[in-house]
Amino acid sequence: MYFKMHFQCVLMLIFVMSDDSLGFDVRGPSGPLVVPLGGSAILPCYVETPLEKVKVVWKRTDSEALVHLYQDGESRPEAQHKDYHHRAHFFTDQIQHGNFSLLLENVRAEDEGVYRCKVYSQQLADKTLVEIKHVERLLVSGSDRSVSAYDGEDVTLSCSVDSHITPEHIEEVSWIRTDGDIMVLLYQNNETFSDSTDEQYRDRVEFFTAEIPKGNFSLRLKSVRTEDKGVYMCHVFAGGLSANATVVMEQLGFSSWHIAVLFFCFAAGSGAVLLLCSLIYYRSKNTDTSSIIWTLQVSLIFCPNICMFLAFMFWGFTEGSLHEAVTCCALYILRPVMLMWALHYLKYLQGILEFKVFFFFFKRSVNAYCWQHVKA
Ligand SMILES: *[C@@H]1O[C@H](CO)[C@@H](O)[C@H](O)[C@H]1NC(C)=O
Ligand SMILES: *[C@@H]1O[C@H](CO)[C@@H](O)[C@H](O)[C@H]1NC(C)=O
Ligand SMILES: *[C@@H]1O[C@H](CO)[C@@H](O)[C@H](O)[C@H]1NC(C)=O
Ligand SMILES: *[C@@H]1O[C@H](CO)[C@@H](O)[C@H](O)[C@H]1NC(C)=O
Repeated sequence: MYFKMHFQCVLMLIFVMSDDSLGFDVRGPSGPLVVPLGGSAILPCYVETPLEKVKVVWKRTDSEALVHLYQDGESRPEAQHKDYHHRAHFFTDQIQHGNFSLLLENVRAEDEGVYRCKVYSQQLADKTLVEIKHVERLLVSGSDRSVSAYDGEDVTLSCSVDSHITPEHIEEVSWIRTDGDIMVLLYQNNETFSDSTDEQYRDRVEFFTAEIPKGNFSLRLKSVRTEDKGVYMCHVFAGGLSANATVVMEQLGFSSWHIAVLFFCFAAGSGAVLLLCSLIYYRSKNTDTSSIIWTLQVSLIFCPNICMFLAFMFWGFTEGSLHEAVTCCALYILRPVMLMWALHYLKYLQGILEFKVFFFFFKRSVNAYCWQHVKA
């Protein structure tokens, strides 16, 4: 009985002796690490007393990717996972002191995660975990290609935010038109402030609300106008950092409204020239075609003006500048009306003309008479 118990104790002792954690203690950091993007991070891992015949394995706990291997007195870069080539090093002079801290350079966003440092020495082993909790960053991306749209269409100006700060903790996102510093749309502390939108963009801009939790602060600009052409900037403030991205809104194509405006302007111009030429032609022929002349004369008064009236009406639709459109429309439609109104008083003009003609001929005959007398 006594012998059996003694044997069990010895067995337990052997079992405890072979346990990984016996013999030495591997220490790590006191808490999770926060590192700036592109910077360097020291992932601490050390033992109090220097060890002999040591092997150190640094791995990611999620993918089990080998970050760094130290074996037989040297580092083994060839065994490293490709993501960590030339980025993960030991402090060579520190190894002899039992300091197996890892220097991770050029930190990337994907480096966030938990790392395991496992130290082996003479059949014994221990490990510690090091967490890179956040890679501090605020990256804002717009679109490399310029955005173009037809007049009246809706466009999306993209802006996506990649940060260690979650989108609901972003302090401010402002969309600004850079040429002229026009506020297009403002988002602050989980809220969109449409009131601060410039009049030019009032009721025409919005965020994709469902996309904001994904860090997508793209802007929807509705019924684009020619004057919307320009450079737009998405400016983000979060956690004391700020970053921006620009989107260029390019040359806008002609919409059917624009084509209509152009058509009517062209029709007005060429119509006026054509009618005037025919009028001069018929008048010079001096035959009895007064009805044709009359028709031409009336057309010359009405047609170009009506064309311009329509052109301004369409222009008003596309540009939305109501005041100018109404003024110009009124002007063009009133001109023929006013001419007709003046028609009534044409006889006075005729009187003046006749008097002038009479006076001209009178002077000429007087002159002629005088000349004759002088010669005589
Ligand atoms: C290990 O070495 C690094 C780099 O020299 C140093 O920053 C760190 O403090 C050292 N750790 C210990 C425990 O000595
Ligand atoms: C936004 O809302 C979330 C919860 O919905 C909250 O945790 C966060 O603090 C808010 N952010 C700001 C800046 O108010
Ligand atoms: C953001 O959301 C808009 C609208 O749903 C979408 O068109 C765009 O592709 C999104 N951008 C990104 C980067 O996901
Ligand atoms: C936008 O970001 C660039 C760097 O990416 C910076 O040089 C520039 O000053 C920023 N513009 C504004 C208005 O903050």
